[in-house]
Amino acid sequence: MKILIINGPNLNLLGIREPATYGSQSFDDYLKVLKKDYPHLQIDYFQSNVEGELIDKIHEVGFSDYGIVLNAGAYTHTSLALADAISAVEIPVVEVHISNVFKREKARHHSFLSPVCAGIISGFGMASYRLGVEALLDK
Ligand code: DQA
Repeated sequence: MKILIINGPNLNLLGIREPATYGSQSFDDYLKVLKKDYPHLQIDYFQSNVEGELIDKIHEVGFSDYGIVLNAGAYTHTSLALADAISAVEIPVVEVHISNVFKREKARHHSFLSPVCAGIISGFGMASYRLGVEALLDK
């Protein structure tokens, strides 16, 4: 069973970027543990700072993988194009955020993606990704 975790812009800097908000663990370190905890799953990972590359990746796996755990970063709040890509594919997409976006600035309260995603997980630190995987497995 293949699950793809996608991280959007600036999330390549996890561990370095604003640790008070996003923690001090790199995504690579987190992913190693996650993969070990789900040996029966194939958990793939893709990160890009480029909107079109995120869209291409959703198209690529969106008719064959089991599901996507997506942290689209700031594109969450701006990208109708990403929302259209999620609508266009067949597999479920779970929207995740490390921080609780509703505790933050107003601009982060709106998501173009939530209405087309299976659900949202926000505010549990890196564990948001694990909860995203669990949500897909529960579907
Ligand atoms: C984020 C929240 C977004 O508002 C922000 O732009 C990010 C990260 C999160 O994981 O908490 O880049 O998606």
